[in-house]
Amino acid sequence: MGSSKEYHDRRGVSVPLWLVLCILGGGALVLFMPTGPATHSVVQPKEPSNLEALRAELDREIASLGKTESVMDTSKAAAASTLLAALPKKKYKKTKAEKLEDEPWKSQLEPLWGLKHNPSADVVMALGFGYSQREFARFVSTLRRTEYKGDIVLAAGPPEKFKRGVVEYLRGEGVLAYQFSYECVKAKKGRRLLMTPAGCILTNWYKDGDKRSPRPLAISRYEMYRTWLSYYEPTSWGIVFDFRDTFFQRDPFTLVDRSAKAPNLHLFAENRQVKRVGNCIFNSGWLRCWGKETPKKFANNSVVCSGSTMGSVPALKRYTERMVQEMDKMKCHATPARTESDQGYHNYLYDTGELAKLPGVRVTHHEQGHGIVNTIGAMNGFRVPKHMKGPLDTHWKIKDKDGWILDYNGERSAVVHQWDRFHSECVRHIDRLADDYMRKKLAAA
Ligand SMILES: *[C@@H]1O[C@H](CO)[C@@H](O)[C@H](O)[C@H]1NC(C)=O
Repeated sequence: MGSSKEYHDRRGVSVPLWLVLCILGGGALVLFMPTGPATHSVVQPKEPSNLEALRAELDREIASLGKTESVMDTSKAAAASTLLAALPKKKYKKTKAEKLEDEPWKSQLEPLWGLKHNPSADVVMALGFGYSQREFARFVSTLRRTEYKGDIVLAAGPPEKFKRGVVEYLRGEGVLAYQFSYECVKAKKGRRLLMTPAGCILTNWYKDGDKRSPRPLAISRYEMYRTWLSYYEPTSWGIVFDFRDTFFQRDPFTLVDRSAKAPNLHLFAENRQVKRVGNCIFNSGWLRCWGKETPKKFANNSVVCSGSTMGSVPALKRYTERMVQEMDKMKCHATPARTESDQGYHNYLYDTGELAKLPGVRVTHHEQGHGIVNTIGAMNGFRVPKHMKGPLDTHWKIKDKDGWILDYNGERSAVVHQWDRFHSECVRHIDRLADDYMRKKLAAA
C-alpha cells in the first residue's frame, strides 16, 4: 500500500489508491457478510488412536531394520521415516493466558473459499485490494516462486473490489483472502477532502461491531494483523507488508536467525544517506504528533519503514498490540496535522525504546541494503538531491545485469520494497519472475 510513501514522491496531488477507493465506495453500504461462525478450528480432531498405533508400528519397523546385518536395503527405512515425518505433529494447545490475549482481536470473518490457516506455518500478511491480477502476481507469484510454502494472508476488501481474474488467481495460489468491508466518513465536497485522512470503520470484522472511531485503513490493518497472528503457533514467524510495492527474490523465512538469543522483531530502514528523520519533512511531521521536540530528538535517526516488519509470532503480537494501543491513544489522524500514516507510530515506538520494552521482544533494525528487506524508495523522487540520484545499476550499484536487486554485499535481496519508485528499472524483472513461476506451475500441472 505505502500511502505514506506516495506523499513523498509525487507531490501533493497524489492520493493513495485505497483512499480514493474507500471514499468512492464510502457511500455504498456493503451487503456482503460472511455466514460462517467465528470459529477457526483448523486441525482435524481425529488424530489419536490409529495414528499412534501407526507411529508405533513404524518405529518398530525402523528399529528392526536397524538390527539386520545387511544395510544394503535402506529404502524401506527411508520410506518409513518419510512417512513418520509426514504424520501430523502433536497439535499445539494455546495456554489460558494466550487465549485471553487473543480474545479481544477475534474476527467473525474467515478466509474465502474454505481455505484454512496452517497454525504451524510461517505467514506473510498484507492489506491489498482493488488491484489487477498482474499487480497481485507481482507480490504473490514472486513469493511462491521462492518456494515459500507458508501462508499468505490478505485483507482483500469487499467483493466488488475484485478485478477480472483475481478470484481465480488468488484461489489458485491458496491465498487466505478476507473480504472485510468498511464505511468511510463521506467527503463533504470536492478534491480537497481526498487529501485528508478520511476515516473508515470496519463493518464486518468484529462480531459486535467496530468499537473504534473512524480511522484510516492504514491504521486498522494492524488490528487485522493482530487477529491473524492468533491463528499461529509461537514457533511460527511472520512478516507484515505493504502490498503494492513489494516483491520477492528469495524466501525471507529461510534467512532469518530463529535462535533463542537472536532478535525476534526486525525493522527495516530507508536509505540514510538520503533520508533521516531530521531532513524528511514527512517523517518529522508525523513525529510532531508527540510534541514539537520529538522529531528534533531523533533527527539523526534512520527512518524505519512501517511497510515491512518481520518477527516471531509472539513478538509480532506484542508489536501490533502496542501499535494499536498508541494509535488509540494518540489518534494522530484526527489531530490538526491529520497524519493518516502509520509510519509515525512505528518510528516513535522504536526510537523511544518502547518496542524494546515489550515483554519477550528483542527488536533491531537493519539499514537499507543490509537486511532481509531492501527498502529502496527513498533513493529516488523529487526530494533526492540531483547529485545523489541515478539508476539502480550504474549509480547505486544494486542491480545486476540480469535485473536482480542486490544488497550491498552483492547478494540478491530477499525482499524488495518500494520498487515502484524505480518502476521502469524493475518492472520487467518482476513480471519475468512472476510469469516464470506461473509457466512452470502450469507445465507441472
Ligand atoms: C549521526 O549518526 C551517525 C551514525 O550513527 C553518527 O556517526 C554521527 O556522529 C551522528 N551525528 C550526530 C550529529 O549525532
